[in-house]
Amino acid sequence: MRITDFYNYKKPGRKISMITAYDYTMAVLAAESGVDCVLVGDSLAMVMHGHGSTIAATVDMMALHTGAVARAVKDKLVVADMPFLSTRKGPGPAMRAVEKLARAGAQAVKAEGLEGHEKIIAHIIKSDMPVMGHLGLTPQSVNKFGGYKAQGRDPASAERLAAQAMELERLGCFALVLECVPAALAERITGLLKIPVIGIGAGPFTDGQVLVMHDMLGLYGESPSFVKQYMAGRRLVVEALNRFDGEVKSSVFPERKQCRK
Ligand code: KIV
Repeated sequence: MRITDFYNYKKPGRKISMITAYDYTMAVLAAESGVDCVLVGDSLAMVMHGHGSTIAATVDMMALHTGAVARAVKDKLVVADMPFLSTRKGPGPAMRAVEKLARAGAQAVKAEGLEGHEKIIAHIIKSDMPVMGHLGLTPQSVNKFGGYKAQGRDPASAERLAAQAMELERLGCFALVLECVPAALAERITGLLKIPVIGIGAGPFTDGQVLVMHDMLGLYGESPSFVKQYMAGRRLVVEALNRFDGEVKSSVFPERKQCRK
């Protein structure tokens, strides 16, 4: 999938699937799958580094993980997150961040929010780096929201989100992630835009869905209620580790076939 495919896939019956990946091994698995698009999300600060929020992600962290993912994913779009404040320090730092992510292998960047960095989003797009917008429960704004709370639930904030979504399209974003908003609002925004809307916790009426890979594989602790777990990863991995531990301690492992002659 390339950027240009995104527009063609905004049609009934063709949904877009996007999954996060942060390291080479998991990205190889994403590359082997039918998933359309790989996101190096700033959620890596939590999932890979154990921080309490995505605010801890830095440009260097994002570039390191983007490089690992891009080395694995050749035939899918690789999108990297612009981390906290990277679009807020003026065009110079923003473009240096974009340059680092692009040189690491990102084919597009995702930027959270709109107000206050409209010009920077436009500048990135005019510099030929595609931008995916991200509205709703944007995790980098968790302190402003006072927690991970659904957005767009009252009429005024729903109108604000719809207007921001249209503005991001006008600025030239190629797609929009809509996180944790009511399904009816996500459906309305999806209908308003010509660019594809990819939902997370935003109901079934968007043009596609994105999940954090470690959430959907059941590897990462407790996940939000909108996550569907496709595998009990944590249980399977701990069971395997316990089998290894038991076999080492009972001298069952290594067996003859694991020994060199
Ligand atoms: O950082 C991330 O993983 C994301 C997705 C959950 C949309 O932004």
